[in-house]
Amino acid sequence: MLKRVMSLLLAMATVLAPVACAQAASETDGAAVDALQEEAGKTLVAYFSWSGNTEEIAAHIAEQTGADLLEIQPETPYPTDYNECGDVALAERDNNERPAIANLPESLDEYETILIGYPIWWHTAPMIIGTFLESYDLSGKVIYPFTQSASMNQEQFDNSIDFVRQCAVGATVCDGLFARHTDTEAIDAYLADNGLIEE
Ligand SMILES: Cc1cc2nc3c(=O)[nH]c(=O)nc-3n(C[C@H](O)[C@H](O)[C@H](O)COP(=O)(O)O)c2cc1C
Repeated sequence: MLKRVMSLLLAMATVLAPVACAQAASETDGAAVDALQEEAGKTLVAYFSWSGNTEEIAAHIAEQTGADLLEIQPETPYPTDYNECGDVALAERDNNERPAIANLPESLDEYETILIGYPIWWHTAPMIIGTFLESYDLSGKVIYPFTQSASMNQEQFDNSIDFVRQCAVGATVCDGLFARHTDTEAIDAYLADNGLIEE
């Protein structure tokens, strides 16, 4: 019975996304949400970070949600020099590349909810986020992107969400979080609004 309810909810979420993401938890009875979340599987926080800011948010989110934490590591590390890294990242974006990942999990089957974090690179998400998302069948999964950048430019954030939606075929990609790594108030509010805080 619960499985049927879950399937129905997921189907509705897909149709109503992204609006449904934030509303599901608040409009459903608390006990039923707990039961559905148990049934639905685990939560994963997967992130890529070059200089540590996204990593800080990811660690905080994992702590607040009780999720597993995965750092996405490139097979070929990015240059440690900012300008050199910029050149590599720009070429990757312009060629729509999918740089290889060194530690790609074999399967994400145990996860129903995935929070995916990254810095804004060249006005969108780093291409390695595309590699990660396109490596799996994400049908039925619910994805929450989170990101931050130097300029905190809304259009660049929106571009990155479009990119995540293109790459996460079959998943429901919720409205993302755009907050500085130091702004734990905004991060916690986003998690609470989306019913992601561990009880
Ligand atoms: C290759 C590269 C490209 C970047 N492009 C942008 C950009 O387009 N817009 C922006 O506001 N910041 C940009 N930044 C700055 C990062 O988004 C910012 O430093 C962020 O906090 C880094 O997150 P991290 O510590 O998780 O790597 C770029 C940084 C790098 C290294």
